[in-house]
Amino acid sequence: MTADALPIRIAPSILSADFARLGEEVRAIQAAGADLVHFDVMDNHYVPNLTIGPLVCQAIRPHVTIPIDVHLMVEPVDALVPMFAKAGANIITFHPEASRHVDRTLALIRDQGCQAGLVFNPATPLEWMDDVMDKLDMVLLMSVNPGFGGQSFIESAIDKLKRARTRLDAYAARTGRRIALEIDGGVKVENIARIAQAGADTFVAGSAVFGAPDADGGYRTIMNKLKSAAQAGT
Ligand code: DX5
Ligand code: ZN
Repeated sequence: MTADALPIRIAPSILSADFARLGEEVRAIQAAGADLVHFDVMDNHYVPNLTIGPLVCQAIRPHVTIPIDVHLMVEPVDALVPMFAKAGANIITFHPEASRHVDRTLALIRDQGCQAGLVFNPATPLEWMDDVMDKLDMVLLMSVNPGFGGQSFIESAIDKLKRARTRLDAYAARTGRRIALEIDGGVKVENIARIAQAGADTFVAGSAVFGAPDADGGYRTIMNKLKSAAQAGT
């Protein structure tokens, strides 16, 4: 039995938001129809950039009701998991290369009451997911090298999405359980239909949302464009 496909979800990455007005920014994306807040955590160790931590997660939590999708680009991983869970994270994903014990970290995230996911860099093989499928709620494929917003979509992610989709569909057929397939990096109105067609159901978009030319009237127009283009691709 194959469970129904998961709905299309748009997850604006606040990496490209105005940090001086972050509460307002997350309220605006929720009002515009965002499904998740994508929260990029960088540690200047696993990736060459430094961003935001649990204190900022806690600060934005009361401003939105949609789930906060924490993408950990940090090494090591485990110590931050309970801190983000306490700060109101709903989904926590991490890069398997950054954890000594991937299965244990996934279990830790779920023990803390969050959904758990693995993140695959452009060169990280999908085999990393095979033995931990039962502990995964999300698979996140990077379509840029992690560390910065505003980079160009790496085309090889399309084929990789198709291969990931095949794996996740086979798992759903076996178990009836759907794992979300998220894409992160260089997602725009122009390419989102193709990305959806390749199998993604959850779409991170940073610069496309917060850099939209008509963003000052709220983010409704860009959110609608992204969602309808993605839907057209499925
Ligand atoms: C990159 C981050 C992304 C980034 C996406 O390391 O994980 O979430 O903010 O930004 P855009 O959509 O601008 O590529
Ligand atoms: Zn991200």
